[in-house]
Amino acid sequence: MMKLFLLCLLYIQVFSLSPDTLAKQHTDGYVNIAEADTSAGILILVNKDHKLPEGYRPDDLVPIEEAYNRGAMNLLRKEAASAFANMCRRAAKDSITLWNRSAYRSDTVQQELFENAVMRRGLKSAEQFSARPGHSEHQTGLTIDINNVHYSFGNTPEAAWLKEHAHRFGYIERYPQGKENITGYQYEPWHYRYVGKKAATYIYQHKITLEEYHEIIGKQTRKTSR
Ligand code: DAL
Ligand code: ZN
Repeated sequence: MMKLFLLCLLYIQVFSLSPDTLAKQHTDGYVNIAEADTSAGILILVNKDHKLPEGYRPDDLVPIEEAYNRGAMNLLRKEAASAFANMCRRAAKDSITLWNRSAYRSDTVQQELFENAVMRRGLKSAEQFSARPGHSEHQTGLTIDINNVHYSFGNTPEAAWLKEHAHRFGYIERYPQGKENITGYQYEPWHYRYVGKKAATYIYQHKITLEEYHEIIGKQTRKTSR
């Protein structure tokens, strides 16, 4: 009898999860955490569901060209650093000034930032804009906060230029408006992620996120390996 009661309870719980509830779980995140696949190279997916191995640090970090840096955290993986400098040079020709504000961050630094955000804003709010240590893609050395980490940056010519041209240099806007349920984070017009020109162009043209891109390439790989 007891067993039947517990089974009914489980049935009610599972089937009462509406798509909205599932989306909310993703936004809140940290539900089913897998290890991030570091063998994916520049396509690595790091988010609330994918955690980097403890102490992970890419071995090809280099400083960003001085002309395009105003941040203390000025390291990126070699390929991403070179693409960023090329992007800044091209932007300057359109009278657009871009610079690094924050690039690679270790998990220790991320822990301090996250704890600070929780103290200032409370856990629920902090989870919407600050990643827990091991879950920030800043730790991949492929991510950069550009110019100004305030929402008003989204209304500047610099943000408009980036939105339109960053994919040509292999960068994507990582947390776009309207995709919060998929990325798990609020809109961050300053946060750009290097994925290489091919993936960036696909993501830009199809108006999708890195999470959706992984879904698509994962499905294609499964199909061709049958
Ligand atoms: N602001 C992004 C989500 C981070 O903390 O990595
Ligand atoms: Zn960022």
